[in-house]
Amino acid sequence: MRVKRILKWSAATILVALVLLGFIAYWTSTNDCNAPIRGEVMKAIKVCEYGVDRLQVAEVNKAVPSDDQVLIKVRAASLNALDVFMIRDTWFGRLFFGLRKPRDTGLGRDVAGQVEAVGKNPAAAGQFKPGDEVFGVCGASLAEYAVSSGRGLVMKPSSVSFEEAASIPLAGLTALQGLREGNIQSGQKVLVNGATGGVGTFAVQIAKYLGAEVTAVCSTRNLDLVRSIGADHVIDYTKEDFTKSDQRYDVIFDNVCNHSFFERRRVLTAKGICVLAGMGGAGVKEGQALGRIAGNLFTARGLSSFTDQKFAQYMTKVSKQDLILLGDLLQAGKVRPVIERTYKLNDAPKAIRQLDAGHARGKLVITIGEESR
Ligand SMILES: NC(=O)c1ccc[n+]([C@@H]2O[C@H](COP(=O)([O-])OP(=O)(O)OC[C@H]3O[C@@H](n4cnc5c(N)ncnc54)[C@H](OP(=O)(O)O)[C@@H]3O)[C@@H](O)[C@H]2O)c1
Repeated sequence: MRVKRILKWSAATILVALVLLGFIAYWTSTNDCNAPIRGEVMKAIKVCEYGVDRLQVAEVNKAVPSDDQVLIKVRAASLNALDVFMIRDTWFGRLFFGLRKPRDTGLGRDVAGQVEAVGKNPAAAGQFKPGDEVFGVCGASLAEYAVSSGRGLVMKPSSVSFEEAASIPLAGLTALQGLREGNIQSGQKVLVNGATGGVGTFAVQIAKYLGAEVTAVCSTRNLDLVRSIGADHVIDYTKEDFTKSDQRYDVIFDNVCNHSFFERRRVLTAKGICVLAGMGGAGVKEGQALGRIAGNLFTARGLSSFTDQKFAQYMTKVSKQDLILLGDLLQAGKVRPVIERTYKLNDAPKAIRQLDAGHARGKLVITIGEESR
């Protein structure tokens, strides 16, 4: 009886402590939006509160590189689904990006620009020098200046424009590494579901470059677009369900994951692989995304351990080698970035809203320069 009472009180105490800790964590979670402006300023997109409609174009403290960083004068940056997920007002996002307010007040990962300065330890920053034209991944790239450790930066090929280079990093890496995860071989049949977004347009072209026969799944208005980037076959998902066809695929590169394990398994070859690349892009809302995460990362992957067909999940890695390869493919004209539209920095909030609506074609790029002032 006494043990029971002690257990009851301990559970109640733990519960109260957790609620209290959660409450403290919530109220102490803040960001640097109220920090004073000192010295040089720059224009940047600032995220002080959650909500895609609450972005500000603001004057902030100019980015300053640490000893191990380079300072980049940003010439172009591109948007990814991740940027939208980070600022949407959802309880799930708040768990990762800051409970009460977004912790990071800068936005944007993909960057292309010129090295303006290097920290005191240039070796640590990848031996770049002022004037070098670079592209890659950094933090807070929707700004006139950004800093980077250099680990995610490579030299920009001379014939590739800043806009094109900025469109490559996260989407290009995700497509390339996902196709590798699918162990894609020349001559194989590959289906790309969600073929017209940032990742899909790279996946179609890279799969073609690697010698695959590519089927692209997209909506009616994008049929010509996927044909123009090399798809051998197209399926309009508004009219036809690819999982009900008689075709069999060696690799399904799935950007949408809107079909069940059994439906996709049906159209995989005996030893086929379904690569779980994404949950449907920026347009997918929280409940739907969580359903797809549960249905794919847990159910489909779990069930595939009992079958010869595999369902593989991966996280995109920032790799210099892969960025160089992607830059070379652009330089050689083997891959061409699909850029639906470019926006000036002042209009970046509009671009984010377009991405959030879920039907961007290829990439949305923000150009940044004197004219953006
Ligand atoms: N694994 C990783 O580490 C990693 C890294 C980066 C990104 N991702 C994920 O990859 C996914 C794709 O990213 P993204 O940048 O390409 O997104 P995006 O640019 O927003 O594109 C999403 C695409 O999905 C298409 N789509 C929507 N509903 C569809 C359906 N029912 N069937 C077929 N296509 C449909 C849309 O085409 P329509 O306009 O024709 O509908 C759109 O082109 C996202 O979920 C993202 O989070 C994963």
